[in-house]
Amino acid sequence: MQTSTFLKPNCYVNDAAFDWLYPEKIQQLSRRHWTPLSIAKSAARFLAHQPGKKILDIGSGVGKFCLVGARFYPESSFYGIEQREELYQYAMEAREVTQTGNAHFIQGNFTQTDISAYDGFYFYNSFFENLVDQDQIDNKVELSTSLYNYYSRCLFKKLNDCASGTRLVTFHSLEDEVPPCYQLVDTSADLMLKMWIRR
Ligand SMILES: C[S@@+](CC[C@H](N)C(=O)[O-])C[C@H]1O[C@@H](n2cnc3c(N)ncnc32)[C@H](O)[C@@H]1O
Repeated sequence: MQTSTFLKPNCYVNDAAFDWLYPEKIQQLSRRHWTPLSIAKSAARFLAHQPGKKILDIGSGVGKFCLVGARFYPESSFYGIEQREELYQYAMEAREVTQTGNAHFIQGNFTQTDISAYDGFYFYNSFFENLVDQDQIDNKVELSTSLYNYYSRCLFKKLNDCASGTRLVTFHSLEDEVPPCYQLVDTSADLMLKMWIRR
C-alpha cells in the first residue's frame, strides 16, 4: 500500500468524518439536511440491488447520498441533480477529493430532467423547504407552498411514467410525490425510510 493511501483519512467511517469533506457552514447543515451515512447505505443497497443500475438522487445537495452509494456499490452509477449552484460545486469538489468516478452531478431543476433513463430514485423530502420558514439551507432559491405542490405533482407524474420494476427510496417524505402504482416493500423501524417498487 502506498504511504499516501495509507494516510488518507477514511471519510466513510461516520457522519462527522464525511462532513469534513466540506466547509464548516456546510457541516453545520448536515444533521438537518444531508442524509445520515447509515441511511445512505441502506437506501443504496436497495437501489443498487444488481450491478449496472443507474440511480438518481432528486435534490442531491452536496452529494452525500451519491458519494456514499457510489463508494459502497461501485458497479452502479449514482447521479444527483441539484438546483443550488453552490451545493452542486461542493458536490463536485467532494467527488474530486474522494475520486469517486461512478458519482455524477448535474446542476439544475429536476423538472427539466428526463428521468426515464434511470432504474431507481432517492428522495430525501427535497421539496419540504417550501412548506416551512425556518432552518433554510440559504435564501438563494424561491420557496412557496405553490412550488411544493408543483414539484410534488411533477415528480408524481414522472415517477408514474417510469417502467415497471423501477425502485424508489423515500426518506422523511410526506409521500405526495409517490404514485399509488408504487408498492411499499420495506421500511425502517421508525417508518422514516421507505422502499418502493413500481408495479
Ligand atoms: C434535504 S436536501 C437532501 C440532499 C441530499 N439528497 C442528501 O440526502 O444528502 C434536499 C435538496 O433538494 C434540493 N432541491 C429542492 N428542490 C429542488 C428542485 N426542484 N430541483 C433540484 N433540486 C432541488 C435542495 O436545494 C436541497 O439541496
